[in-house]
Amino acid sequence: MDRIIIQGGIPLKGEVPISGAKNAALPLMAACLLTEEPCRVENLPVLQDVESFLGLLKGLGVSVTSNNGSVELQASELPGGRAPYDFVRKMRASVMVLGALVARLGKAEVSLPGGCAIGGRPIDQHLKGLAALGVDIRLKDGYILARAGRLKGAEIFLDLVTVTGTKNLMMAASLAEGRTRIHNAAGEPEVVQLAEALRSMGAGVSGVGTDTVEVVGTPRLGGFQARTIPDRIEAGSYLLAGALTGGEISILGACPEHLGALTDKMSSSGLELEDDGDRIRVTGFRPIRAVDFQTAPFPGFATDLQAQMMVLLSLAEGTSVITETIFENRFLHAAELRRMGADIQVEGSRAVVRGVDRLLGAEVMATDLRASASLILAGLAAEGKTVVNRVYHIDRGYERIEEKLSALGARIERVS
Ligand code: EPZ
Repeated sequence: MDRIIIQGGIPLKGEVPISGAKNAALPLMAACLLTEEPCRVENLPVLQDVESFLGLLKGLGVSVTSNNGSVELQASELPGGRAPYDFVRKMRASVMVLGALVARLGKAEVSLPGGCAIGGRPIDQHLKGLAALGVDIRLKDGYILARAGRLKGAEIFLDLVTVTGTKNLMMAASLAEGRTRIHNAAGEPEVVQLAEALRSMGAGVSGVGTDTVEVVGTPRLGGFQARTIPDRIEAGSYLLAGALTGGEISILGACPEHLGALTDKMSSSGLELEDDGDRIRVTGFRPIRAVDFQTAPFPGFATDLQAQMMVLLSLAEGTSVITETIFENRFLHAAELRRMGADIQVEGSRAVVRGVDRLLGAEVMATDLRASASLILAGLAAEGKTVVNRVYHIDRGYERIEEKLSALGARIERVS
């Protein structure tokens, strides 16, 4: 198993390009299942999750032609309609094929995802929404067996805001007869991008970015071409890396409007940020001021940046309180950060972070994608050597991370 070794304490300097967003690319790729026409997704990040998703699509019968960061997908025929356990187990986003498959084929078999390190993560809201659209759902041998005639538009009231659930239902509703309204919908930029693709395929999608999304379905959808939006979580992670090493870095190609909640908190903690269109520059200095924040659906503070922000606040002057409202178990990194000298107390959904003067290198264990990123950031700021184990998590969501950090002056290497 690979591990990442970091010699910390070097202020990062320079420019770093931001890759396409995994969480936008995966639903765009799933949308190809809605049509027999060719679809093209550009600016794909080179990531394990993208590879796995392409593997799943191939298994479903999609022809896949990759070329230089783009992929052409054509689902002329879909003989199987089955997403096996092996894919869904490794990547929960696989469940996003359910809505598209059942809407197009009238049937789908998709393995139920299990829980994962950050929480139980049920998909009851996806199933509730599909049932409202007329899908008959049964569970058998760990699989969702979905059957339907042509789906019928409906009013869907989600009990909570779910990103993948909203995407799944938007795709299904695009082939349904009549109008669907999804209430309490997610409005993340990745949802907005999927809506734009569905619109260019011929579905009538409106209200995206508000909490009610309306979809007017059509019996046939055409192909689409989309350029994956920049990854706001990768962008935020690099901004924080620059800040907490006391460096000066610019991220290139990110969307500042996707990062407002983070940059607001960074400014409150005393950091200087300059936004110059598609370049955002951060200058780190001490002392960083403590700030409280809570995670929330977009445009609130992204749960996917909570762990990385915790590292910054570990080095702040004063006490910060972090409240995690999206996932019930997303503080696993706190115990590892404590091993590096951080002072963090977790009480249910709250973490109390008392700032310390310095972090010290240690051997630590990554538990999920964003926790891995936080440990790498902590290693960059810490004195001495940090070894991050189980780094396969990081390859799911950060393209060429060692290369990008090395180019900023970090001393980081991967060893097998
Ligand atoms: C997406 O997960 C992202 N994944 C996650 O990114 C991100 O953390 C999350 O949204 C929140 O922003 C992808 O886009 C592939 P949810 P998703 O459904 O859609 C509960 C990363 O590191 N819920 O919005 O699965 C759920 O348990 C990943 O890149 C139900 O109870 O998240 C959670 O507590 C991790 N029932 C909350 O809602 C449901 O049917 C939000 O989950 C669905 C969700």
